[in-house]
Amino acid sequence: MSQAKSENIPPQNTAQGENVVTVNYNGKSSVFPVLKGSMGDHVVDIRNLKKNLDLFTFDPGLGGTASCESKITYIDGDKGVLLYRGYPIAQLAEQSNFAEVSYLLLYGNLPTRQEYEVFVDRLNEHALLHEQIRNFFNGFRRDAHPMSILCGTVAGLSAFYPEGTDISNEASRDRSAINLIAKIPTLAAWAYKYSLGEPFVYPRSDYSYTENFLNMMFARPTEPYKVNPILSRALDRIFILHADHEQNASTSTVRLAGSTGAHPFACIAAGIAALWGPAHGGANEAVLKMLNAIGRKENIPSFIEKVKDKNSEVRLMGFGHRVYKNFDPRAQIMQSTCYEVLRELGVKKEPLLELAVELEERALKDDYFVERKLYPNVDFYSGIIFKAMGIPTSMFTVLFAVARTVGWVSQWKEAFDDPLRRIYRPRQHYTGPVERNMKTSYWL
Ligand code: CMC
Repeated sequence: MSQAKSENIPPQNTAQGENVVTVNYNGKSSVFPVLKGSMGDHVVDIRNLKKNLDLFTFDPGLGGTASCESKITYIDGDKGVLLYRGYPIAQLAEQSNFAEVSYLLLYGNLPTRQEYEVFVDRLNEHALLHEQIRNFFNGFRRDAHPMSILCGTVAGLSAFYPEGTDISNEASRDRSAINLIAKIPTLAAWAYKYSLGEPFVYPRSDYSYTENFLNMMFARPTEPYKVNPILSRALDRIFILHADHEQNASTSTVRLAGSTGAHPFACIAAGIAALWGPAHGGANEAVLKMLNAIGRKENIPSFIEKVKDKNSEVRLMGFGHRVYKNFDPRAQIMQSTCYEVLRELGVKKEPLLELAVELEERALKDDYFVERKLYPNVDFYSGIIFKAMGIPTSMFTVLFAVARTVGWVSQWKEAFDDPLRRIYRPRQHYTGPVERNMKTSYWL
């Protein structure tokens, strides 16, 4: 590829005065504009590649592809920067709360006090589920994974809100967004209660978003339950850290499903399904299982050797990231939150935390991890915090889903406002059989 002048793409799409990329192929030459974002890497606009040169790009895993334009979240993976609508994650985690961050992600700016109060009232009002949703839970085995319950009930909820299909209506899209953010903690807490065989606890308007979730998880009719403000604050911060992360696998799934015009609840159910995998949101559960399997510090060296062995398929869970090639800024806040929670709970010695710290230290000194720029990610410490809070391992990814719903919904909404919106329809690099003819079948 070489640099030359732009053609084919309307001038308003080209970065003014910026470079273009020329592709020479099969005796033809075509010029593609380089678009400049407000921050970060520039992108080559290859929309006319097929039309001009009869070529597609090949990018398995889409690691080199900007699949959409977005104004929501910015990541600089080399510097370890994460911004929501321009605000650094550390500032939001320190000075904001999850409801305010949800408003920011959804509507683009921090709310005024009045906007905040109206928003919180709306979330409270819609946290309640249709009473018939209770019946959905009875269809699941008591030992069902709560992610399968969450996925099923969120998709099922679409049947209660048929007007959600009216996606061309902005007010309807906004109602769906609020409904999803408001109801997901209730569904998540009920999935947990169902696994215990305990009565469901209803949402309450006098609690904050996170207090309400903790109350629905842990309150029981037999005894008073008081939400611990320090734990609630810690969980609220964890929710902020998980709220959005630009075009990751589950968000891309939501955008892809949304591009077909599907019901928003169904799109979020698709996102939940994608999040479940251990390479994505399921990693927090996998980290705890991994630490339990390692068991003792003496076993760390042999475990690291297994991770490095290309034939073993064992990975150091909670390490590595497609975008971060430096510290994941969320992991650092997560680690300090972990100490804060353990202090509050009076846990002087947590063997899993000690094991995790040692594992991290050793990995960060090991050439294998250094050369590949593998650092702890958001999931490395979150499981230890959840465990200390009394949350069972199978619920870890559910908590991630509760928080990420606001990101999914914001990205889904943004996609609808995008004038470039089209159905997602990638192409492929076909390497299967060339056309061939059938012989007479043996059964004829
Ligand atoms: N342990 C051991 N080796 C690793 C790891 C790991 N956790 N992550 C990457 N590598 C190696 C990988 O084997 C490859 O080595 P080589 O070049 O010799 O073949 C190299 O590093 C590049 O890895 P990759 O698989 O091409 O990287 P990716 O961008 O496709 O994968 C990832 C990113 C997050 C899936 C991967 O790092 C991983 O599997 N991590 C463990 C699971 C995890 O913690 N996931 C949570 C991600 S953060 C939360 C979220 O966004 O969901």
